Amino acid sequence: MRGIILAGGSGTRLRPLTSVHSKQLLPVYDKPMIYYPLSVLMHTGIREILLISGPEHLETYRSLLGDGSRLGIRLRYAVQDEPRGIAEALVLGADFADGEPVCLILGDNIFYGHRLPDLLRQEAARLDGCTLYGYPVSDPERYGVATVDEDGTITTLTEKPARPTSNLAVTGLYMYDGTAAERAAALAPSTRGELEVTDLNLSYVSEGRARLVNLGRGSAWFDTGTHDSLLEASMFVQVLEKRQGIRISCLEEVAYRMGYVDKDQLALLGKELSPSSNYGKYVLDLART
Ligand code: G1P
Repeated sequence: MRGIILAGGSGTRLRPLTSVHSKQLLPVYDKPMIYYPLSVLMHTGIREILLISGPEHLETYRSLLGDGSRLGIRLRYAVQDEPRGIAEALVLGADFADGEPVCLILGDNIFYGHRLPDLLRQEAARLDGCTLYGYPVSDPERYGVATVDEDGTITTLTEKPARPTSNLAVTGLYMYDGTAAERAAALAPSTRGELEVTDLNLSYVSEGRARLVNLGRGSAWFDTGTHDSLLEASMFVQVLEKRQGIRISCLEEVAYRMGYVDKDQLALLGKELSPSSNYGKYVLDLART
């Protein structure tokens, strides 16, 4: 399975924070937002990753993350000229995916849960059609909303419904079989001129080949779409990290624990980060244990 991170959009709801910066590079407590979705893909065992962003920001991502070799992964980059919808990421990533299954994750979605890596690996292995990940929320009307039958097969899926039929929001994490790029290319733009991910997902729902996995109470999901949710995500990360003395979505640690880099490489990564940063010190300490 290959991974695509969409770090597009113009971030209008977060201006002036996003007047010059890419939203997905804004800090979420101690690291850039993009670290969180990237760590999800790495935890799933995905090492071939395409990062898509607007032309004005792509070079910044490239200078932050490079070709990924430091982390034992392969990162490639593609431009989305205009925010033409989430499903366009699959069209832009068609050559990259080369007919393989794809895990698409939105660059502004933050997931946390200690069982999540195992769950995602299991789901990747049993993928048939598409698998979406639901999260119970108190404000489902802000999201795609799904209803499922007892097997987890999606029966209805609606984008931002005025009257939601369930409290299960569809998160920005999607797994698709090798036909997704073709399906996305065949979509007609919506009234707001975008290729809608919900329309792509509906093409699988209509064939009875769309599954929803409820991430449930043992996990956290933040979408960072507003000033408040951005701050809440930062506070969540801060509280958890301070209390447990850990770092979550620390890419260097994930690369080490996944066996993508060894201890010597980890020590080098820690030194590069500088021991005067608490984050760098954490990586160095890990390399010394
Ligand atoms: C998009 C999707 C929506 C999904 C959400 C998750 O919404 O269209 O189905 O629930 O991401 O973050 P947007 O953030 O573009 O409003």
